[in-house]
Amino acid sequence: MKILFMKNIAVFGSGSGSNAENICRFFSSSKQVQVVLIGTNKKDARITNRAKKLKVPLLVFSKNELNTFTKLHAVLLKTRVEYVILAGFLLKIPEKMLELYKNKIINIHPSLLPKYGGKGMYGNNVHSSVLKNNDLFSGITVHLVNENYDEGEILFQKKCAVDKGDDVSSLSKKIAKLEYLYFPKIINSFVLK
Ligand code: GAR
Repeated sequence: MKILFMKNIAVFGSGSGSNAENICRFFSSSKQVQVVLIGTNKKDARITNRAKKLKVPLLVFSKNELNTFTKLHAVLLKTRVEYVILAGFLLKIPEKMLELYKNKIINIHPSLLPKYGGKGMYGNNVHSSVLKNNDLFSGITVHLVNENYDEGEILFQKKCAVDKGDDVSSLSKKIAKLEYLYFPKIINSFVLK
């Protein structure tokens, strides 16, 4: 009967899905939180293969289906999803979904927001900008999602040093390491609070 007391989460991504996989693995042994759905707007993205490999139900939806939020909402209700986790999900969350999941959608961003946030700031674009500006630090931010890209309330940040020899590849590895270590733990404490 423990299933009744589980908090159900969905993870949305648009690319590789390495965070989605890491989150699924983290919660696979949890008795309190489970990933019941992986959602993506990119049917050919690597995240879809990961969902299949992990045997987590996968939902592919179009931008239009996200924006109308009718079919997608029905699936979230059916699977009793309480929280939606954005892990490399690149579409803007529509107002209707924000209203229905108020303070229940969280995102990870690969910089120390408010630096390097906003439209077009994702993945390696962020790391190139950090390097171009010779910043001494970068890091990760986990935040609530609101109507503006990367502007919701910050729940957690973790810094890392940008070293002299760093390039986009080495910096993205440092950031990924922080994301894998902290994001699942932050999700866990957020949904169980
Ligand atoms: C992650 O680094 C995440 O922080 C970033 O995309 C990557 C997804 O990697 N998100 C953004 O840039 C959002 N603006 P993954 O698909 O391998 O998890």
